[in-house]
Amino acid sequence: MRFTSRHGIPLTALNQVCVLLYVSIVLYLLYRFISWSFSSVCEEINRGLVDEARILQLYGGWGRHLYYHRLCNETSKRFYYIEPYAYLNSLFKFRPESNYPVLQRPRDCPSVPPGELLVLMGIKTMPSKAALRSALRETWLNPADWADKYSSKIHLFPIFLLGEEASSISLDEEASTYEDLLQYKFTESHYNLTVKDNMFFEFFQTRTRLSCPNAHFVVKGDDDILLVPENLLGHLDLINETTQLIGCMHRNEEINRNIRSKYYMPSELVSSMEHYPNYFSGAAYLITNEVASELAAARFDVPMLPLDDTWIGVLVKSIDRTSDMLSSDSICTGVHVVPKGSGGWSMANDYDDPCFLAGLTIYHRYPSPERLLKSYQNLRQKNLTHICHDKAQETIDNVSRKWGDEARSMMLAAWLNNYARFFGKNELEYLLSKKRALPELTQEDQAKRGNQHLVGRPDRFNHEIPKVPPIMASQDEIINKRLSSE
Ligand SMILES: *[C@@H]1O[C@H](CO)[C@@H](O)[C@H](O)[C@H]1NC(C)=O
Ligand SMILES: *[C@@H]1O[C@H](CO)[C@@H](O)[C@H](O)[C@H]1NC(C)=O
Ligand SMILES: *[C@@H]1O[C@H](CO)[C@@H](O)[C@H](O)[C@H]1NC(C)=O
Ligand SMILES: *[C@@H]1O[C@H](CO)[C@@H](O)[C@H](O)[C@H]1NC(C)=O
Ligand SMILES: *[C@@H]1O[C@H](CO)[C@@H](O)[C@H](O)[C@H]1NC(C)=O
Repeated sequence: MRFTSRHGIPLTALNQVCVLLYVSIVLYLLYRFISWSFSSVCEEINRGLVDEARILQLYGGWGRHLYYHRLCNETSKRFYYIEPYAYLNSLFKFRPESNYPVLQRPRDCPSVPPGELLVLMGIKTMPSKAALRSALRETWLNPADWADKYSSKIHLFPIFLLGEEASSISLDEEASTYEDLLQYKFTESHYNLTVKDNMFFEFFQTRTRLSCPNAHFVVKGDDDILLVPENLLGHLDLINETTQLIGCMHRNEEINRNIRSKYYMPSELVSSMEHYPNYFSGAAYLITNEVASELAAARFDVPMLPLDDTWIGVLVKSIDRTSDMLSSDSICTGVHVVPKGSGGWSMANDYDDPCFLAGLTIYHRYPSPERLLKSYQNLRQKNLTHICHDKAQETIDNVSRKWGDEARSMMLAAWLNNYARFFGKNELEYLLSKKRALPELTQEDQAKRGNQHLVGRPDRFNHEIPKVPPIMASQDEIINKRLSSE
């Protein structure tokens, strides 16, 4: 019998070679496929708490994005994800576990004489960031700097919260020198930050070996901020029976179900709601002893989430304290959570200007420890009052240009309020006498004051923004009031 083509034309020798070639290529590919399937295929699919198989079902499959970003590591025989999904490698490792051994512990919590305030500060940091920690110890975390300003009535007790990084960095020397490290044996990861909140509560809580239950206030902060102590303490003036937590509030934020975002929340972890309970940006917030004790006691009842700040929000809700949260315009300004349409915040080199920093409570995201040291030194220079006084008009013009019309009066009011705390009422009056660029605050604006203003991430914003009048209590008034209410 002869080979024929589909048009019945007899095949030439050349055509026969082509067919043979074709068949051998197919056989070769088949061989490669079979040997690949038997030797190097990644078989394991994570069926942990965050279920990889389920997520693949939702977002993967033939022709879907996820499939093309999932590769097989032939050595480990495990799948791994590449950008923009690389964060999944870490998310799949999430476990709601916080019971890790202690590696380093700080010195014992001090006890303070009656009539004086103890502020416990927990700063999330990582082992490799030693230079940043030493910059913080010399600047806003320096207890002497606070005592200096407040006639030793305020005792600051700062501790750093750490896990372990892949590279084995020894913290023994640092820990014994400063006695301010609280390190547990768990892997540093964006999704393990909730472990640090748990460590911090454990450190605070009564009836544990590591404990600081007498702290009048608990402040949680990040290591990449500059904090202005006098302006943070000014916030204590806002605390009363119904305001017990202060920070920058994310209000009624929709739960992120976008698989491309590192804030993606799988429905295995949170399925019963569409919005997070109100929560604070973790860059800096302040809690009273009363609420911190309740949170510490409730933490085992609320399943951990891989996103630390939202978990705190859920925890606050679980003790029915959400309505006791107050959003601070000043802290929101500092974390750059500014309203949409507010013109954003033109921040270029803002930290170079100590007269501007004097009106902030925090400034989030310092590019380097050196920059932070320099800014803080500028803020603490001896003749700063004179320097700022001499260029007050220019400063206020510049500051009012930082934010667009919509948010300007609110953010300016918060800024002026803090500026007044920093330099004293006289300087504020001087500044206000130069206020040609300053919008008026009406009675109605003042009446609208509440904790309903800043919500959501910058891209999701409630546009009703009440304006806040300056609060004029002095340092001493604030401290005395707090002490008398203890
Ligand atoms: C593959 O796995 C090996 C062993 O676990 C690891 O050393 C290597 O970095 C991995 N390669 C990639 C590209 O993830
Ligand atoms: C958190 O730390 C634990 C203990 O080291 C580790 O097993 C886990 O994989 C880490 N989680 C993440 C999300 O990296
Ligand atoms: C507590 O403070 C908030 C805001 O600072 C205020 O709106 C509220 O009226 C105060 N409540 C009491 C009981 O003083
Ligand atoms: C501030 O003090 C420094 C050092 O005493 C001095 O060199 C500088 O001129 C002063 N600046 C102003 C504006 O007074
Ligand atoms: C105000 O802004 C201008 C332009 O950016 C700058 O050159 C000037 O130094 C600023 N002045 C003050 C007092 O911040």
